[in-house]
Amino acid sequence: MFANKLLTCSALLIILLLLSNAVFSQKLSSLTNVGSDAFLEQANLLTSSSATTPTSSTTGKPITTKSTSSITPPSTKTTSTESPTTTAPVITTTISPQPYPEPSVGTWNTSCIMLQMAAQLNFTYEAKGGNFTNGVYNIPNNASVEDSECKSQTTQFIHLIWGPETSKQSILMYFDKSNDTTVLSSIQIHLTLLSEDFPDAKENQTVQLIHKSDGEFKTPEKMSYHCTRVQKMNMTETLDAKQLIGWISVSHVQVEAFRMANDTGFSVGHDCDSSETSDVVPIAVGIALAALILVVLISYLCARRRSTSRGYMSF
Ligand SMILES: *[C@@H]1O[C@H](CO)[C@@H](O)[C@H](O)[C@H]1NC(C)=O
Ligand SMILES: *[C@@H]1O[C@H](CO)[C@@H](O)[C@H](O)[C@H]1NC(C)=O
Ligand SMILES: *[C@@H]1O[C@H](CO)[C@@H](O)[C@H](O)[C@H]1NC(C)=O
Ligand SMILES: *[C@@H]1O[C@H](CO)[C@@H](O)[C@H](O)[C@H]1NC(C)=O
Ligand SMILES: *[C@@H]1O[C@H](CO)[C@@H](O)[C@H](O)[C@H]1NC(C)=O
Ligand SMILES: *[C@@H]1O[C@H](CO)[C@@H](O)[C@H](O)[C@H]1NC(C)=O
Ligand SMILES: *[C@@H]1O[C@H](CO)[C@@H](O)[C@H](O)[C@H]1NC(C)=O
Ligand SMILES: *[C@@H]1O[C@H](CO)[C@@H](O)[C@H](O)[C@H]1NC(C)=O
Repeated sequence: MFANKLLTCSALLIILLLLSNAVFSQKLSSLTNVGSDAFLEQANLLTSSSATTPTSSTTGKPITTKSTSSITPPSTKTTSTESPTTTAPVITTTISPQPYPEPSVGTWNTSCIMLQMAAQLNFTYEAKGGNFTNGVYNIPNNASVEDSECKSQTTQFIHLIWGPETSKQSILMYFDKSNDTTVLSSIQIHLTLLSEDFPDAKENQTVQLIHKSDGEFKTPEKMSYHCTRVQKMNMTETLDAKQLIGWISVSHVQVEAFRMANDTGFSVGHDCDSSETSDVVPIAVGIALAALILVVLISYLCARRRSTSRGYMSF
């Protein structure tokens, strides 16, 4: 009779274990799909708060290079009259140029591409004296969609423009699809250096910045690419040039190309920091933990039942 009970108990245990396994893995797979957005929003907050701190102090906006050159002489003059030997280097560090503002996130839609990102450029340009200097520039979040290529099922692009009518600034982003995988293929930027943005730049200067993709923004079909952290991409003047002339730093990216015109919102996100291997470990741990809890619970219940039934017999 006791052996019989033990058998039913262990059978129950095995069935429950199998059941919990199935339920758990299903729950987890749905979590990795749907839950990613909420989870990413949290990550979003975390990185955006941390992203505001590490702005470099060395290169402010191009304007600051002008302002420092116009402000520095009087201040160093006054310090040199006060104490010419010691304090001069200290004073120069206190006049720190205000950091260039962080780029703000923009959202752009076309019938086949939906794009959300904040982008900042850091590139070299020719100054008035003929020297080359570094400039930082944020792509405005109110840039407008000029056009896009949506007919092709292998290559699509989105073309954004901004700036005054006479000197349009632009960014083109190309996407390729092959083997059910979408990938960024290139970014092409055309800037006319306006005197209000780059007061020290040589006049009528245009800069072309190209990034040939290294497989960035890779995502399976019918999913959107999501990446909150900053990604820095090298830029050259032409597609084949080797010499770097700058970087584009993109953050808070969510992008999806090869969409249907009637799709609404982004498809399920594929995050840049989630790989298959990192998914397997938490799932396995979760299942093992659930199984352990169930084993303990059932053995406790079985033991209790046995002791109570024995208690009845003794009476
Ligand atoms: C821009 O690039 C220069 C040169 O590498 C670097 O010193 C500077 O810190 C960069 N500025 C920003 C804001 O990233
Ligand atoms: C250009 O750079 C050289 C070397 O760094 C420097 O001596 C010269 O003063 C610079 N010229 C201007 C106009 O800034
Ligand atoms: C975009 O924003 C800038 C400043 O935030 C403003 O000067 C400009 O007029 C805006 N452009 C458009 C097209 O709204
Ligand atoms: C597509 O997949 C096939 C077979 O898996 C492979 O041979 C081919 O190189 C892939 N093409 C690209 C562009 O990745
Ligand atoms: C810049 O362009 C303006 C208008 O096109 C022209 O009047 C001016 O001479 C140009 N400046 C230089 C240095 O080429
Ligand atoms: C970008 O440029 C840096 C500096 O030249 C280089 O070390 C790095 O490998 C480049 N990255 C890519 C993806 O080409
Ligand atoms: C969207 O359009 C495609 C054909 O263009 C159609 O097959 C699909 O059912 C449509 N989806 C919705 C949700 O209307
Ligand atoms: C883009 O489209 C989505 C839904 O299709 C909508 O929620 C969003 O507001 C649109 N954004 C812009 C800037 O039009």
